[in-house]
Amino acid sequence: MKLCVIGAGYVGLVSGVCFAALGNTVVCVDQNEDKIHELRAGGVPIYEPGLKALIKDNVEQGRLSFTTDTAASVEAAEIVILAVGTPSLPGGEANLSYIEEAACEVADAMNGYKIIVTKSTVPVGTNERIQNWIASRTNYPFGVASVPEFLREGSAVIDTLQPDRIIIGASDPHVSTVLTTLHEPLTTNIVTTDIRSAEMIKYASNAFLATKISFINEIANICEKVGADVTRVAHGMGLDQRIGSSFLSAGIGYGGSCFPKDTQALIQIAGNVDYEFKLLKSVVEVNQGQRFNVIRKLKEALGDLEGATIGIWGLAFKPNTDDVRDAPALDIMQSLLEAGAQIRAYDPIATANFRRLLDSSEVTWADSAREAAEGCDALCLLTEWEEFGDIGLGELNELMKYPIMIDGRNVYSEEQIRQSPFAYYSVGRPQMN
Ligand code: NAD
Ligand code: UGA
Repeated sequence: MKLCVIGAGYVGLVSGVCFAALGNTVVCVDQNEDKIHELRAGGVPIYEPGLKALIKDNVEQGRLSFTTDTAASVEAAEIVILAVGTPSLPGGEANLSYIEEAACEVADAMNGYKIIVTKSTVPVGTNERIQNWIASRTNYPFGVASVPEFLREGSAVIDTLQPDRIIIGASDPHVSTVLTTLHEPLTTNIVTTDIRSAEMIKYASNAFLATKISFINEIANICEKVGADVTRVAHGMGLDQRIGSSFLSAGIGYGGSCFPKDTQALIQIAGNVDYEFKLLKSVVEVNQGQRFNVIRKLKEALGDLEGATIGIWGLAFKPNTDDVRDAPALDIMQSLLEAGAQIRAYDPIATANFRRLLDSSEVTWADSAREAAEGCDALCLLTEWEEFGDIGLGELNELMKYPIMIDGRNVYSEEQIRQSPFAYYSVGRPQMN
């Protein structure tokens, strides 16, 4: 099939490449000229394992191309996929201006029947608005569908090629049939449903995963007080198939471009119909507090942070991505700077993106994990990049001024900790040293 994907970000680029890999002809469109130039020159504007090679292969096979020309791409396409951003407005509601702009551009370029698919995460009722925006600008016939995206950053290619399910929300049976055929090569559960339910499935899924995280983080906070170990508790809970073992890793709370904005948006969606989503409000509140436990533990270990040198390992909101949107590291580093600390920070991939959000003469941007640890009074591990776990605590002790670690991701084992001189503060595990 001939596809046009509007928005070549984390979702649009990965989806476009994967649809090309399935044998479709795909044009990825973005209004950001730098992004398109980079892609055309063989570069990749985001870090995502496996993506670069897949792009190269599909471009060489003539199935994948990149452009800023929306009109020409829409004209040539049978299916147009909207994958533009839906960030939060100040009140938490989803900002639909990019969706509206893209839908209007599609409408103005219509030259025959097309199916317009929304992959962006949008509030319930948005696809009906998209239908109206387009219908008000063109007389050509078209179908709309909500096909929400469930990929995770850091494993986006695998998630897209091996999804747990595909949700197709459409009211027109022809649209459902065409989109089912498009997704069939993925050999997974394909659920066809109405548009509003499809839109809600996306928000409910993200809200549920966020709830699991805040739940286990609260259990961790209690474990710290009663002397239990949250990693053992999560293991024991997760063996119950009704609970499941995933998303039970206690830590410094969820960040990223999606859980924070989508939980806020769902609270707003409920509020708009006079329903107070009390549970989800608590999930958000717990999550916001969780990251500041790092500061509390640092103060417990060091006392006043004024003039202290604190190492930070990990700036991305999770490993294997360069995405720093709503990364816990941002709030934590801002608090440290307010408390008068000096910071030595390192991330394998995300430093350049992070520096666009926060830069200060009080922060030294290190080129390696070891360099960040040098001379520090304490070290905070905020993102569980694999390379951090490979550095022995004995070696780290040699580099640092004091052997104090706040491990926000429970990376080191009890055995490693007990054999080391470190004063080690983890999340929800008993004090071991
Ligand atoms: P992103 O910010 O990485 O990419 C969006 C892209 O759209 C940008 O490159 C921007 O330049 C482009 N764009 C905006 N308006 C345009 C227009 N009119 N024409 C052409 N290009 C335009 O965003 P993202 O992270 O890929 O997220 C996109 C959507 O997918 C959001 O609704 C998000 O909630 C949802 N989602 C994201 C993820 C994720 O892991 N990032 C996963 C599932 C769903
Ligand atoms: C999440 C969902 O997992 C995807 O299904 C969804 O498509 C996406 O949001 C979206 O809608 O954008 P993502 O944000 O990329 O994906 O990454 P996750 O792996 O879900 O991690 C999110 C945050 O939760 C990270 O900060 C991570 O550190 C944290 N987390 C995750 C925990 O603290 N504990 C866990 O057990 C799991």
